[in-house]
Amino acid sequence: MCGIIGYTGEDQALPVLLKGLRALEYRGYDSAGIALCGGNGITTVKAKGRIDLLEEKLKISPPEPSFCGIGHTRWATHGAPSDLNAHPHSTENLSLVHNGIIENYAEVEAMLKGFGYTFVSETDTEAAAKLVDHFYKITCDPVKSVFSATGFLRGSFAFGVIFRDVPGKIYAVRRDSPLIVARCNHGSLIASDIPAILPYTKKYFRLPEDTVAVIDEKSTEFFGRDGKKLSLPEETVDWSVSEAQKSGYPHFMLKEICEEPEALRKTVGARLVDSLPDFKDIIDRIPERIHIVACGTAMHAGLIGKTLIEMFARVPTEVCIASEFRYRDPILHGNELVLLLSQSGETADTLAALRHAKAAGVPTLAIVNVIGSSVAREADRVLYTLAGPEIAVASTKAYSVQCACLALMAIDLALKNGRMTEKEARGLTETLLTSVPEAVGKVIGMSEKIKVLANEFTDTEHLFYIGRGIDCDLCAEGSLKLKEISYIHSEAYAAGELKHGTISLVTDRVPVVAVMTDRSLAGKTLSGVREVKSRGAHLLVLTTDGVKESLGAPIPCDKTITVPEIGCEDCPYLARLLTLFPAVTALQLFAYHAAADRGLDVDKPRNLAKSVTVE
Ligand code: AGP
Ligand code: GLU
Repeated sequence: MCGIIGYTGEDQALPVLLKGLRALEYRGYDSAGIALCGGNGITTVKAKGRIDLLEEKLKISPPEPSFCGIGHTRWATHGAPSDLNAHPHSTENLSLVHNGIIENYAEVEAMLKGFGYTFVSETDTEAAAKLVDHFYKITCDPVKSVFSATGFLRGSFAFGVIFRDVPGKIYAVRRDSPLIVARCNHGSLIASDIPAILPYTKKYFRLPEDTVAVIDEKSTEFFGRDGKKLSLPEETVDWSVSEAQKSGYPHFMLKEICEEPEALRKTVGARLVDSLPDFKDIIDRIPERIHIVACGTAMHAGLIGKTLIEMFARVPTEVCIASEFRYRDPILHGNELVLLLSQSGETADTLAALRHAKAAGVPTLAIVNVIGSSVAREADRVLYTLAGPEIAVASTKAYSVQCACLALMAIDLALKNGRMTEKEARGLTETLLTSVPEAVGKVIGMSEKIKVLANEFTDTEHLFYIGRGIDCDLCAEGSLKLKEISYIHSEAYAAGELKHGTISLVTDRVPVVAVMTDRSLAGKTLSGVREVKSRGAHLLVLTTDGVKESLGAPIPCDKTITVPEIGCEDCPYLARLLTLFPAVTALQLFAYHAAADRGLDVDKPRNLAKSVTVE
């Protein structure tokens, strides 16, 4: 789930491994380790906690110089974070790092115990390391032993393996978990993600499933299960080193929020022809129903998608959490569409849902940010968002561009089923391309003001977000953002639902953020606002001047964040819904500042991983 790096070449391996691990830190981890091939066999050093602690250990007893090694950041799934459970896991013959989960590890362990193996860690990975070792003893062939082991294993994995008898070579294989291979000036690399290779090269190979990569100082080779050599296309990273760096910002999250206007312009601009959405290659007929399937923030973008698609085009749309999708035996028909949303394109739950939909014979379309990722490759059709790399664990700009794509899709469907004129559609797309990024930029300009407001919530333990309609969708995302990075417990509630039970939790120590950007519903939300205010809640309202005017009376609140209301003469009501963009930016900034003020590690919140490649 987290980070793998491997280097073999002319240079010392250790600095390359540590730099690679640091570049992968954003993926979230709880321990780190390295293994180096040297004259005396394999040396392994592992440490629970941050990479700094691993470095300290390495300084205290430096390993002998080595030109080949593997490194790992672990996000524990089986067994607590500890030095012992950290990777690499070694045997007398080899050392192995693993991202993912071995589902049948207990079965494998039991079998290997029969062959005399003993187990020391609590991880599922140790079973995989010892299984490769078992087959290596039989075959004396690294490639065959890796294939034999993966033939046995169930679950998701990316492995990097070094063998004591073959110094200078690294072997890699994957199933479901991502892994790339690259050549650089002085050697070869394996890595679980692009930032780890970017300082050395922009060219890489995406390792296909069921293929073993063998890399050394001079070459990268790929073998199929039949032992035949494969030739793979080399891909080029379309972003620069600086895009994967903080560039002066204190955190990637803040940098990525500030990149939203540009990401929106790029994503929307790429899909317009003559100011109309160009979805020819993606949607050829109106589906009878759309099932949006995604996780976390992407699922929240799906909620916005449902609201926009149903409002603009009246096409029935459902949103399903990807981890629930296939277990609920969804009713799917060939004339419907399953729409997968994913920033990374590697989320295991989303990938499993995609495979379920394909098996059921429903057309699938993926909206994905990472080019060539698993979801992008496996879906029938793909629409790329152009947010550039998103490094912070908390997703921000990826959400905004997903919403922009969904807005374009809603316009396209509305045009196709005659619910919108071309004039209205052009007005809306122009609004998305110009007024929306401008308004988002204005909110970014309000960052210091939002910081002051957020700092008032630093000591808060519990908080509610309330809103109606599209504002309720925004609350879901605002609340998730706050929870994941500030560790303040918060809940998003439909403003009208609070009184049906949960209002019992509202006191003068439980503040409420009310999102009121939709004029047509603000009057109703106001009742909820009054209800919580009269129970003593400290109240922050996120709204627009348009809403304030339409209400005609002041909102009874303690603080206000006023974001620009989006307008468009040709289609005023639907355009106003696009106020969601500046509003979400304000919610993201609020969460960011609350977490930063608490002194937390905003980009790498505890227990979270950027790309959740396990079910
Ligand atoms: C976002 O802030 C979260 N870290 C998380 O909910 C994320 O959106 C989710 O895991 C889905 O990821 P994906 O978009 O890469 O599929
Ligand atoms: N399942 C393995 C473990 O718990 C690997 C986790 C990871 O991907 O980091 O050690």
